[in-house]
Amino acid sequence: MIKTQGITKIFKIGKNQESDLVAVDDLTIEVDRGEVFGFLGPNGAGKTTTVRILTGLIRPTSGTAQVAGFELGKDDTNIRRSVGILTEAPGMYERLTAEKNLTIFASLYDVADVEKSVNKYLSMMGLWERRLDSVGSYSKGMRQKLALARALIHEPQILFLDEPTSGLDPEASKTVREFIEELKLEGRTIFMTTHNLDEAERLCDRVGIFQQKLLTLDSPANLRDQMFGRRVVFHLQKLEPAWVELVSAIAGAGNVEVADNKLVVSLKDPENNNPEIVRALVNAGAQVQFVGEIRHSLEQIYLEMVKTSDRGQA
Ligand SMILES: Nc1ncnc2c1ncn2[C@@H]1O[C@H](COP(=O)(O)OP(=O)(O)OP(=O)(O)O)[C@@H](O)[C@H]1O
Ligand SMILES: [Mg+2]
Repeated sequence: MIKTQGITKIFKIGKNQESDLVAVDDLTIEVDRGEVFGFLGPNGAGKTTTVRILTGLIRPTSGTAQVAGFELGKDDTNIRRSVGILTEAPGMYERLTAEKNLTIFASLYDVADVEKSVNKYLSMMGLWERRLDSVGSYSKGMRQKLALARALIHEPQILFLDEPTSGLDPEASKTVREFIEELKLEGRTIFMTTHNLDEAERLCDRVGIFQQKLLTLDSPANLRDQMFGRRVVFHLQKLEPAWVELVSAIAGAGNVEVADNKLVVSLKDPENNNPEIVRALVNAGAQVQFVGEIRHSLEQIYLEMVKTSDRGQA
């Protein structure tokens, strides 16, 4: 659905080349139909720039991309018809009502039944009561909801959502998240940026961690396993030093650490290794109280990746 080859964006800031700003450096990715893809990275990483490039709003300095089967730069009208965009600063007609704004947009995109669609999305986003108020009088969260309605009104197959829940209260964020899940079930492709890592972990099939360059790309679960391995904690009532060696000797067990009365074991295949370890410990006289896996969050992975990348640039 979205494919890029070596997309690069250099902003010319001063007169000489030294002051050029490389916002996106050689980005090659592929996002499948029906996938929710999370694009994560710190402030200024180049996420919004990427979204703007892929939706035909600005041109890349080099590289090519295909969006919804259309070639970027050649078929941008079709690309714009196939995608819905929620950007950081969605331009709305401030003096017109929310209803009027949506109506104009829907008409522009040849929506079949404009009134029906406008009503549907106003209600869905909880803006029905305020539909006749001018957008200028809207709060930040209301604007965000209206922008989402606008991104969706022409029923695009691909959605680019740039920080869809930023500025929303917890309840509204939840509504938007549930909404994204629904859109995924409908088979739409979603490319979203977010600073909410918990949200990314819950919603995204795969995430790319990006800081000018793509640092890594995989499912949150795979990233976790690659980065930290899988570690299991065996809580014991009392720990005998000899058990460390006993556990280390079991096939599949990697590093074994001791913390209080706990054994922390790196394992390749905990589902198969754990029963054997428990058995060995019990046979040796241990009282096994709990067994739990240490779960690293996407946040820990993200911080680790971004930190390493900063060091690389320094
Ligand atoms: N039109 C522009 N002219 C010059 N520089 C720009 C322009 N647009 C973006 N940049 C620069 O490109 C870099 C990437 O900006 P971008 O907005 O893509 O970051 P971002 O990842 O979306 O950050 P945030 O998380 O803060 O939204 C920044 O250094 C920014 O200053
Ligand atoms: Mg941004």
